[in-house]
Amino acid sequence: MNYKIAVLAGDGIGPEVTEQSRKALKAIGDQYNHTFEFTEGLVGAAAMSKTGDPLPEETLNICEAADAVLFGAIGDPKYDSDLTAKIRPEQGLFRLREVLGLFCNIRPAKTFKQLIDSSPLKKEIVDGSDFIIYRELTGGIYFGKKELSEDGTTAFDGCEYSVEEIERIAHLAFKRAMTRRKKLTLVDKANVLETSRLWRSTVQAMADTYPEVQLEFLYADKAAMQLVLNPKQFDVILTDNLFGDMLSDEAAVIAGSIGLLASASVGEKNAVFEPVHGSFPQGAGKDMANPLASILSAVLLLEYLKLHAEAHSLYRAVEKSLELGISTADINPTKPFSTSKVGDFIVDCIYDEDDVNVNIDNVQAGQSTII
Ligand code: IPM
Ligand code: MN
Repeated sequence: MNYKIAVLAGDGIGPEVTEQSRKALKAIGDQYNHTFEFTEGLVGAAAMSKTGDPLPEETLNICEAADAVLFGAIGDPKYDSDLTAKIRPEQGLFRLREVLGLFCNIRPAKTFKQLIDSSPLKKEIVDGSDFIIYRELTGGIYFGKKELSEDGTTAFDGCEYSVEEIERIAHLAFKRAMTRRKKLTLVDKANVLETSRLWRSTVQAMADTYPEVQLEFLYADKAAMQLVLNPKQFDVILTDNLFGDMLSDEAAVIAGSIGLLASASVGEKNAVFEPVHGSFPQGAGKDMANPLASILSAVLLLEYLKLHAEAHSLYRAVEKSLELGISTADINPTKPFSTSKVGDFIVDCIYDEDDVNVNIDNVQAGQSTII
């Protein structure tokens, strides 16, 4: 099969981590007789410096014509320090989410056995934890009315949700729970927020349609605490845009590193796959950032295209790199490998899936890793 993939590498470490996913997808294509046709589009600060627009029309057209979008990272410190800037790189990401209708953001947080000892949490707490966050992505306070009074002393951010917006993502979360351990936790602040009460009543009303799914409700502050106290209790977490943003960064600790957390953002017609981490400007161009969040996003992309054997092969290659400690400094501080070396190793594993004789010194030397 032939698949069109839009590649929006973006800012900071985006280009170098995305490059590793591209290499991995090319190898998967070679092994399984697919062609992944990559078309690059500008986004974020990189697009602003060339066109003035963080999401040029041409990029949108490339995304709309693609079967899936591989996204890198967005954000540049140049704009972070200017609180009055009218245009920000992040607006490119918000418009992409909005225009492509990517209302459902899926962030799996599964502990890798190989990283348990380096977790800041106790082994018995993280071992075996495996949950997935369904974050609403095109509504709520991110997209509400924003105002700053003329004298600059009062600001306002509105948060709005409709039953329809809640139902469409809740259906996906319930369905996902059905394929897993059949537990769904709605995270909100229904003790404070009107929108949260609407989330609760809407999701509660849907529970009859999914009688096998055990539905529970948890306030967001309590959820933040429970995530690190007892992450194993969670299966599918459903939540709004802002709570989902915060809790998914926290979930990164459970996965072992933010450099490992992948995400899929899906709508009716389009889907974007991107790491949860940001653009990490301090690491940009240094060939040191962890490419696994991007590569695991490529795993989700393959699953979305229903290429399950291919997804499994890529996932196995990631596991193998972790097993052998062929990892970047965030998870292997004593003998770190570079971004591109980790990517090379993953590629080698895909070409030679069954070979377990790996010469680690060859990875460092840039030679073939499979002997
Ligand atoms: C994320 C990011 C974005 C968000 C930023 C870059 C605006 O943190 O995808 O989680 O807040 O949604
Ligand atoms: Mn975030």
